[in-house]
Amino acid sequence: MINLPPAELLPEVLACGQVSGRDVDKFESVGLTELPATHVKPPLIAECPVNIECKLVSVQPIGDHDLFLGEVQIVHVSPEFLDDDGTIDPARLSTVVMMPGGFFELGEQL
Ligand SMILES: Cc1cc2nc3c(=O)[nH]c(=O)nc-3n(C[C@H](O)[C@H](O)[C@H](O)COP(=O)(O)O)c2cc1C
Repeated sequence: MINLPPAELLPEVLACGQVSGRDVDKFESVGLTELPATHVKPPLIAECPVNIECKLVSVQPIGDHDLFLGEVQIVHVSPEFLDDDGTIDPARLSTVVMMPGGFFELGEQL
């Protein structure tokens, strides 16, 4: 499951990165809301405007990290982020990107 958090959810994103789901129920401790998925076991996060259900295809070791390759099963998007054609309008979607130097918000189209 891939969840795209909006910028205002950054405190909760940081809190999720501090603990493991093996030790703590992150939904409860961080204050997020579970919604049932349709194709996979992990739940959607209601506070995330985009939730992408994926089936794991492979795990590739790349240096000191693993690259998880997933096959998209279904993409859930909150209606307010869709344009009239039913496609995602990136200009309405403020999501968080983690890069060297910190967290950034997606900017304007170039
Ligand atoms: C915002 C954020 C930042 C993170 N930064 C790092 C990091 O710098 N180094 C690292 O090894 N893991 C980092 N992680 C991963 C988490 O520390 C950790 O792998 C995760 O909480 C494990 O949760 P899980 O066991 O429920 O999958 C980060 C996670 C998040 C959400």
